[in-house]
Amino acid sequence: MSDKKHTVRTIQEMKDKKEIITMLTAYDYPTAKQINDAGIDMILVGDSCAMVVHGHPNTLGATMDMMVLHCAAVARACTRTMVIADMPFGSFQYSVEDAMRNAARFVTEAKVDGVKFEATPNHIEKTRAIVEMGIAVVGHVGLHPQAIGALGGMKVQGKDVETARKVVREALALQEAGAFMIIIEAVPAKLSAYITKKLRVPTMSIGGGPGCSGQLLVTPDVLGMFDKFTPSFAKRYQEFNKLMLQTFKQYAEEVRTGAFPDEEHSYAMSDEVLNAIQEEFEKKS
Ligand code: KIV
Repeated sequence: MSDKKHTVRTIQEMKDKKEIITMLTAYDYPTAKQINDAGIDMILVGDSCAMVVHGHPNTLGATMDMMVLHCAAVARACTRTMVIADMPFGSFQYSVEDAMRNAARFVTEAKVDGVKFEATPNHIEKTRAIVEMGIAVVGHVGLHPQAIGALGGMKVQGKDVETARKVVREALALQEAGAFMIIIEAVPAKLSAYITKKLRVPTMSIGGGPGCSGQLLVTPDVLGMFDKFTPSFAKRYQEFNKLMLQTFKQYAEEVRTGAFPDEEHSYAMSDEVLNAIQEEFEKKS
């Protein structure tokens, strides 16, 4: 494993050499540090942050200020892992200029390595404009969680000819506009594999099956830290919530019974100093 930071070039080389690309989400410094040290290739600071960190019912609760703050914390931890900022709802939809300004905030204020947004065909020109500014862009096709209102829920996309055609067209248009990677979310495995063969740039699956160039999951799902729901495509590798609950209960028990803090977790002082203080203050009163 190279110590060098991943770039658009090294990520493209991985696809060309048929090396599978690993990616996870992160929202804070300590988690990003472990992901970086574990040798994961890319981090997405997803707007899933609104749900899994801030407790909103969907991703629409994410704002630019919230995302910039989380991105900056993640970027400080990543010496090797490439960091991609997710542009929140309302940060790119209104105009090309708005999209460019907000993308620029992520690279100048948060120091991320690229941005990602849920670009429909109406937003292809924004992808092109941001790439022309010199910012690396990741496209996102299939399920767009920011469109939850119009979609009527988080549903698999591209199961019939019409919607499958839309997914393929969007992926091709994003590549043509300069996106260096395409995230494929909640799409049948056969369709993702077809898109991966058809595209020059790497694809990243989140619920897109094994035929993509890499795999992405939301870290709190992987760690078992998000208790509202787990998508069927997400694998829970740990049950951190249970571990946290058990730890906090044990802490409360030890504090209440006086078992914590013990001598090991307290600062020592010589009896002479204490006696001198006691004498001085007892005399005064
Ligand atoms: O916000 C996020 O974590 C995402 C992934 C689900 C692709 O956008």
